[in-house]
Amino acid sequence: MASGREQFGSNMAAVMAMAGSAIGLGNIWRFPYMVGQGGGAAFVLVYLLCVVFLSVPILLCETIIGRRAQAGTIGAMEKLAPGTGWKWLGILTVISPLIILSFYSVVGGWSIGFFFQSLSRGFCVGDTGNFAAFTSSLWMPLVCNTLFIFATAGVVAAGVKSGIERFNRISLPLLFIFIVTIMVYSLSLEGSSEGVRYLLKPDFSRMSPRVLADAMGQAFFSLSLGVGTILTYSSYMKKEDNIVRSGMGTAMFDLAFAVLAGFAVIPAVFAAGIEPGAGPGLIFETLPFVFASMGEQLPFISRLISIIFFLTVVIAALTSSISMFEVGVAYLVEERHLSRRRAVLYILLGTWALGSLCAVSPAVFDFCDILTSNYLMTFGGLLFVLFVGWKMKRSDVWGEFTGEGGQRGNARIFGFFYFFVRYAAPVVILLIFLSNLL
Ligand code: PFF
Repeated sequence: MASGREQFGSNMAAVMAMAGSAIGLGNIWRFPYMVGQGGGAAFVLVYLLCVVFLSVPILLCETIIGRRAQAGTIGAMEKLAPGTGWKWLGILTVISPLIILSFYSVVGGWSIGFFFQSLSRGFCVGDTGNFAAFTSSLWMPLVCNTLFIFATAGVVAAGVKSGIERFNRISLPLLFIFIVTIMVYSLSLEGSSEGVRYLLKPDFSRMSPRVLADAMGQAFFSLSLGVGTILTYSSYMKKEDNIVRSGMGTAMFDLAFAVLAGFAVIPAVFAAGIEPGAGPGLIFETLPFVFASMGEQLPFISRLISIIFFLTVVIAALTSSISMFEVGVAYLVEERHLSRRRAVLYILLGTWALGSLCAVSPAVFDFCDILTSNYLMTFGGLLFVLFVGWKMKRSDVWGEFTGEGGQRGNARIFGFFYFFVRYAAPVVILLIFLSNLL
C-alpha cells in the first residue's frame, strides 16, 4: 500500500463502489422516460452502444490516471504532469463534484422527506401540490438536505474501507432487491402492459441526432464521468485488478439498474392512467399520485411499495453523493495533510452551505445543475481523454490497461482503445459539448 494509503479490499469492492456512484437519480428519473421517448428497445440498443464505446473508454481513462498516480485528482495531475497547466484539470475536478453534490443533496433531501411521508401517513389522491408545498416551505427542504448531507459525511468519515466500501457492499444488493420488488408489483397492476409496450416497442424512426446526443449525455452523467469521482475511487484499486473488467462490470450494473427502474416505474404510471414525464415531477408528483390511486384498492401493499420506493431513491442518491464527497476529502487529506475527520468537516460545511442555498433558491439550483451536467462534466471528460491519449506515456497507459502485459485479453484490444482515446473520443465528446451549448 503506497504510503499507507487506504485501498478497497477486492476488485469486486471497487466495482461495487463505482457502480454505487453510477447508480443514482439519473437511472430512476431520466432513463425510463428517455427510453419511452427515444424508441423503446431501439433506444436501449443505441444507449448500450454509447455506454460500451464511449462511456467505458472514458471511465477507463479516469481509472488509468487514478490507479497509476495512486492519488486524488489534484495529486494525480501533480504526480503525472508535475509543474504543468494540467493541475487546473485537477482543480476543476475537485470543484465540479462539490457543485453537483450541492444540488444533488437537495434532491436526496426531498427523497428523505417523501420517505418519511410514506412512512408516516402515505399519499392521498387529493394531495395535488404536495411537492410544490414541500419545496416552497422554508424549513423542510433545509432540514432534509441537512440530514442527507450529514449521512453522506458520516459514511465518508468512516474511511475508504470501513465507510465507503462497507456502505456500498450493503447498499448495492439492497438496491437491486428493492427495484426488482417494485418492478414485480408494478408489472402485476392492471393496465401495466401499456407501459411495457412503451418501453419495449422498437421504433427506429424515433432516432434523431437529438435523441443520439441525449443518449450520449445520459451515458456520461449516469456513469459519473468527467468529475474525478471514478478517478478517485480508482486510486484505491489494487494494482493487480483488471481495470477493463471492472469498467465493464460497473457499466453493466448501471445499465441493468436503469432498465429495471424503467420496468418498475413506467408500467405503474400507465396503470394509473397517466403519461410519464422525466425529472423531479416523475418521482415526486406522478409516483405519489400512482401510489395514492393504487392505495384505494390495495392500501397496505401500495403503502409498503411507496416506502420501499423512496428508500431506494435515498440509498441510490447516497451511494452517488458519497463518491462526490470523497473527491474533496481525498484532496484535503493527501495534499493539505488534514486528518480525514477535519477534511470531512470542511467539505461538509462548504457543501451544506451551497446545498442550503440550492434548497431555498430554484435559480441557484438550476444554475448549479446546468453548469455541471451540461458543461463541466463533458469538459472534464474531454480533458481526461486528452490527458491519457496525448500527455501520459504510452507505456504507462499500456501498463495500467494490461496489468503490465499480464492480462492477455486486454493487451489484444489495447491498440483499438488507444486509437479511440487519441482520436475518436475527443471528437465525440466535443460534439456532445457543442450540442449542449446549442
Ligand atoms: N451517476 C449519478 C446518477 O446517475 O444519478 C450522478 C452522478 C454521480 C454524477 C456522481 C456525477 C458524479 F460525480
